[in-house]
Amino acid sequence: MTDEQLLELAREAAVKAYAPYSKFQVGCAIESVDGEVVTGANMENACYRLGICAEQSALTAAQHKFGLDKVARIAVIGGTDATVCTPCGGCRQAILEAAQLGGRDLEILCGSGDRSAVEHHTIGELMPFGFSPANL
Ligand code: THU
Repeated sequence: MTDEQLLELAREAAVKAYAPYSKFQVGCAIESVDGEVVTGANMENACYRLGICAEQSALTAAQHKFGLDKVARIAVIGGTDATVCTPCGGCRQAILEAAQLGGRDLEILCGSGDRSAVEHHTIGELMPFGFSPANL
């Protein structure tokens, strides 16, 4: 799957977000080492602090479909303008867990909601010196 295709799946997932409070829809698509794909979107709650991010939603689906250790690539898209959406700190921590389990650095494609911009990162770059299973 191309970067553009994975980002497009993330964009389609964002449309299905439940984000009535922030109105900031985020979608995430995760590809496995074998080419399987799962998606997720943010889901908010009237008790604001209970909302979950798109990445965590997609990581849960990834664990169910192929296992966190098989995660290879992650695409995230959020918002509506030209600002690129990068994973929040908590999601970086969750992604780092998958990277550590699989023993590989994970590529993270970050797109803007208006599709004008894409940034390529790795979890090692976004979360240096993070706390992971290796620390336990
Ligand atoms: N959000 C995500 O889903 N992923 C991120 O990495 C950043 C933030 C969501 C949480 C909340 O529902 C909305 O975006 C605004 O913060």
